[in-house]
Amino acid sequence: MAFQPRYPILTPQRFTIISSKRYCPTQTLGTTALQARTHLAAFHTTPVRAMKGARVTSWGAPPEYMTVPDLPAPLPNQLQLKVLAVGVPRAVRGRAECKHPSAFGAPLPFDPSADGVGVDEATGDRYFINTLAAPLFAERANVDRSQLVKLNAAADPVTVAALANPTASSWMALRCRATGGCQGRTVVIVGATSASGRAGIAVARALGAARTVGVARDPDTLAKVEGLDDRVLLPAHPDEPLVLPPSIGPVHIVLDWVGGPAAVQLLQSAQTEPGENLQYIQVGGLAGHDTLVIPSRLINIKPICIMASGVGSLSGEDLKREMPGLVNTITTMRRPFEVFAAPMADVQSVWNSEEAQSKRLVLIP
Ligand SMILES: NC(=O)c1ccc[n+]([C@@H]2O[C@H](COP(=O)([O-])OP(=O)(O)OC[C@H]3O[C@@H](n4cnc5c(N)ncnc54)[C@H](OP(=O)(O)O)[C@@H]3O)[C@@H](O)[C@H]2O)c1
Repeated sequence: MAFQPRYPILTPQRFTIISSKRYCPTQTLGTTALQARTHLAAFHTTPVRAMKGARVTSWGAPPEYMTVPDLPAPLPNQLQLKVLAVGVPRAVRGRAECKHPSAFGAPLPFDPSADGVGVDEATGDRYFINTLAAPLFAERANVDRSQLVKLNAAADPVTVAALANPTASSWMALRCRATGGCQGRTVVIVGATSASGRAGIAVARALGAARTVGVARDPDTLAKVEGLDDRVLLPAHPDEPLVLPPSIGPVHIVLDWVGGPAAVQLLQSAQTEPGENLQYIQVGGLAGHDTLVIPSRLINIKPICIMASGVGSLSGEDLKREMPGLVNTITTMRRPFEVFAAPMADVQSVWNSEEAQSKRLVLIP
């Protein structure tokens, strides 16, 4: 589909010929030409800034760096920000492939960005820009003020952009979905070697968890994950049992970024606290299973509460309310995974690069 700008773009070329003295000396200008020159004068006194950005032009292909329509003046409820850093979590990659629900039906060219960090050039104040508040693969963005969280002066824009999405997954699950929070409780993190799992360990600690148990498939990577009290390996084969050592004691909350049969095995193996639900919260699907098949006997014999945490099971109000606390936590925690910051101009070449696959990519406009 052809790109349809939302408002006319003034290009200098459209005025050059009309305004040329060689063709239209002032004395001989007709009404139309005079209007054009007046327009031209306005054009030169109010410069139209070309804006660069990145857009997906073919679903599944890396975004392309290109000139994009500049923004209109911000509305009274908006702030125009210079974009400083934009994270590329799995959700953004999913949007770029049109596999994320938030991208279904969107026209091309498409800005797959989700959240990021910008600065108000008038004041120097820097802000976290909430999820899907504005297209951010661009030099500037007009953002509703209610979708901004002011950052403290020490906050690093790249770190905030890199951590926001993976950290939000556990923050929102523990703050908005888990009944009673995780203070003093044992939290099991399934997928502990993922960016979200690693951030989840730090979040559970920050929110007062007494014990964190990491579950993952790779013993060497899991051994290096920080902040865990116990480490448990996922079985290499679905027929092998996943057994939680009895020394772990009762499990109160399971945050699962992997999904599938491992979750069932874990719930079968976990001890429960008398009088309390074992709360299972599905947050991701690294194993690629679309279904979670829970034996009815399992939820009959154990007090298990099954939930998920994501767009839809969380409300926009939940996100707005939780963002200041989440952003504050991000600015005070150590980066739990490696970050690869690259210029947005290089988006096409870095998008699928080895470094962008092994580290969390952040684009700098
Ligand atoms: N609901 C939300 O709010 C929310 C927010 C963010 C992310 N998510 C979802 O959460 C999941 C994790 O996202 P992420 O960005 O954190 O992932 P990520 O950092 O890209 O995770 C990659 C790591 O996960 C591990 N992994 C991959 N497949 C696995 C499997 N089958 N079993 C166990 N471990 C596996 C691998 O570690 P090893 O090689 O060491 O095993 C891999 O290095 C995704 O499904 C994502 O869509 C949800």
